[in-house]
Amino acid sequence: MPHTARSHHRRRRVPRPLPLVAAGALLAAAAVTLPQLTPEASAATTLRGYADARGVRIGAAVGDSPLTSDSAYTTVLDREFNSVTAENAMKWDALEPSRGGYNWAAADRLVAHAAAHNQGVRGHTLAWYSQLPSWLKNGNFSAAELNTILKKHIDTTLGRYKGKVYAWDVVNETFNEDGSMRSSLWQDKLGTGYIANALRWAHAADPAAKLYINDYNIEADNAKSDALYTLAKQLLAEGVPLNGIGFQSHFVVGQVPSTMKANLKRFSDLGLEVSVTELDIRIPLPASAAELAQQSADYKLASENCLGVARCAGVTVWGVTDKYSWIPGTFSGFGAALPYNESYAPKPSYTGLSNGLNPAA
Ligand code: G3I
Repeated sequence: MPHTARSHHRRRRVPRPLPLVAAGALLAAAAVTLPQLTPEASAATTLRGYADARGVRIGAAVGDSPLTSDSAYTTVLDREFNSVTAENAMKWDALEPSRGGYNWAAADRLVAHAAAHNQGVRGHTLAWYSQLPSWLKNGNFSAAELNTILKKHIDTTLGRYKGKVYAWDVVNETFNEDGSMRSSLWQDKLGTGYIANALRWAHAADPAAKLYINDYNIEADNAKSDALYTLAKQLLAEGVPLNGIGFQSHFVVGQVPSTMKANLKRFSDLGLEVSVTELDIRIPLPASAAELAQQSADYKLASENCLGVARCAGVTVWGVTDKYSWIPGTFSGFGAALPYNESYAPKPSYTGLSNGLNPAA
């Protein structure tokens, strides 16, 4: 059973909830809000119940549209997840569509929603080659101007959400598959030094936020993860405030890399946090029962590959339901990548993820 369980909501969890009677008295006396005391949030057999019990994050990427218009979506989101990532709302084109002209509406909505439901927020993302507004992409700025623009965007964004975002994907997708640096506005004009600068500026703007480099196809031990490992070691040796590596983990069913756990461990052994940041596992459509069962095993394995490593901070899935997943629009003929189907029924993959989070399973 994926989720039952009001009867379980008094079980021990971390942090331990107040008894409901005491909480009620406290609420009445002090008029404070304690959103973690909702029965949904404290049910031990939800994904977030298991994650809370081991002090890790179980997150989901959240789109602004379902957040604001689909109550079935938010019911599942708030019951099951203790962390959220803006699927798009904190990208540069969304936040700063004109130079110095910020649009915080959707990002603010998510941050407020998270606070109201006792969820942490992962910030995504600052220095990325993609989703840049045209004023920035086509501005033909000098290196000095680009540095100023990047610093200002980081200062402004992290400043606004200081204390409300526990981790930021400061740098996103900076490598090619062969381990060379990917061509981007930042790389081409500023060189690899932009990475250290972005991390330093981010740390100055919000010293408590964990600062990440995030990428895909780095889950296995391969040329790309080797290059990232070399860079991470170098940044740490130089005292750059790099705190973690985000392993996006966009997988195909049956293809969770066999070297994933050992690969995450070598980063963890450097003293870095590791997180699975964008997990989904796509299946050629229509998905067969055998493929759904394999996907369930894959979700369990992928989450265990992180949670079995010392400094794993948690696992985020790139969406809640197949209803809104980016997969079919990008990988023609593929889909069914997430733990819930289009009608919000938990799939076998929900059970796989749940078992991956629950050490007793
Ligand atoms: O907001 C506009 C809307 O105004 C317009 O009408 C509509 C028409 O196409 O496009 C909307 O923007 C889309 C945006 O999602 C919001 O829905 C973009 O076209 C579309 O390209 C964008 O796709 C996102 C993609 O990143 C590119 O930013 C996906 O939703 C999102 O899931 C995906 O997420 C990325 C991570 O950030 C980084 N890692 C890979 C991952 C999957 O690609």
